[in-house]
Amino acid sequence: MQSARRPYSVLIGAGVLGQADALLAAADLRVPAVVVTSTPIWQLHGDRLRAVAGADGATVMPDGERAKTLRTVAGLYDAFASRGVDRGATIVAFGGGVVGDVAGFAAATYLRGVAYVQAPTTLLAQVDSAIGGKVGVNLPAGKNLAGAFHPPALVLADPDVLGTLPRREFRAGMYEVVKYGAIASRNLFERVSRSLPELMSRKPAALEPVVAECCRIKAEVVGRDEYERGPRRILNFGHTVGHALEAVTKYRRFRHGEAVGYGMLAAAHLSATRGLMPSEDHAWLLEVIRRLGPLPGVGDLKIGDVIDATTRDKKRVAGTLHFVLSAGIGRTEIVQDVTPAELAAALTAIGLAEH
Ligand SMILES: NC(=O)c1ccc[n+]([C@@H]2O[C@H](COP(=O)([O-])OP(=O)(O)OC[C@H]3O[C@@H](n4cnc5c(N)ncnc54)[C@H](O)[C@@H]3O)[C@@H](O)[C@H]2O)c1
Ligand SMILES: [Zn+2]
Repeated sequence: MQSARRPYSVLIGAGVLGQADALLAAADLRVPAVVVTSTPIWQLHGDRLRAVAGADGATVMPDGERAKTLRTVAGLYDAFASRGVDRGATIVAFGGGVVGDVAGFAAATYLRGVAYVQAPTTLLAQVDSAIGGKVGVNLPAGKNLAGAFHPPALVLADPDVLGTLPRREFRAGMYEVVKYGAIASRNLFERVSRSLPELMSRKPAALEPVVAECCRIKAEVVGRDEYERGPRRILNFGHTVGHALEAVTKYRRFRHGEAVGYGMLAAAHLSATRGLMPSEDHAWLLEVIRRLGPLPGVGDLKIGDVIDATTRDKKRVAGTLHFVLSAGIGRTEIVQDVTPAELAAALTAIGLAEH
């Protein structure tokens, strides 16, 4: 992965966590390291990183999105101080996107920056949040409002740990996988569509190449645009409507990936209506998303509320809403002229009723 600061390796493979101590040492990272994790993850998979954590064991933070706060970060600073963490230390973020974002933010800011390793344990974290160097926490005013760009020194993605993920968490990650195919690789999309049953049963042999391809795509896009000025925006396919659906349901109804599933359906509908996305590709995207399983209902949500929420999207630049459309599976087009009427039609198409 190319980063303006320092290139880093993303190692993907069944068993990489078991070799973490040697892999860290080979990357000139100090071992034992400070392993930051949460209780459920350490209970399920701590064995794999016990050698890396050393005699002190892991630093445990609370689990889940509600723990993604400055308060949790402050708790980590205290733990780092009492362990004597210095500039030469290594921090390992071992968990899903929440642990990665929080531990990464603590690593970015403690002593103005300590090296850290992402060891992602959810599908979403392996294909998305562990790569790209964005770290941060939520504020009462909104999600991910305080953060930094702090690229990891190394990423270790081990598909073996995905076997214990709750089914819904796994499926939520699959929508992001589908997104990578939809925006950048017909090949990946075709592979996912063909091997969906093997992927859903978490066969490492099926997962490994897919996770690797998603990482490659994210790394390639981010490498061209580390600080999110332009090309990185294609990663937001499905996210304008997705974020709006999450916001109007106060982040309680959907897993992020599920909202992105709806968002991709809406963006595809809009793209097909404009004649930008071929109808066979539109049907294919619909079919793959349907096969991932049922999504929480949206029939009770008000179209006007969702449209209002899209205009509050954090990623608006100078008042313009950039909307990522599909120009066919594997290709995108970013436009700035989506009208409320088009958006309303797309929302109706995905199941919102007119109130
Ligand atoms: N930094 C970025 O670029 C970026 C990108 C996308 C998302 N994110 C962030 O990622 C977060 C979501 O991450 P997430 O979906 O991984 O959620 P999460 O970290 O909350 O993990 C979901 C749940 O799965 C459990 N879990 C994790 N690994 C497990 C395993 N192997 N087996 C069993 N259970 C396991 C966790 O304990 C947790 O309860 C959000 O806060 C989002 O903002 C960041
Ligand atoms: Zn996303």
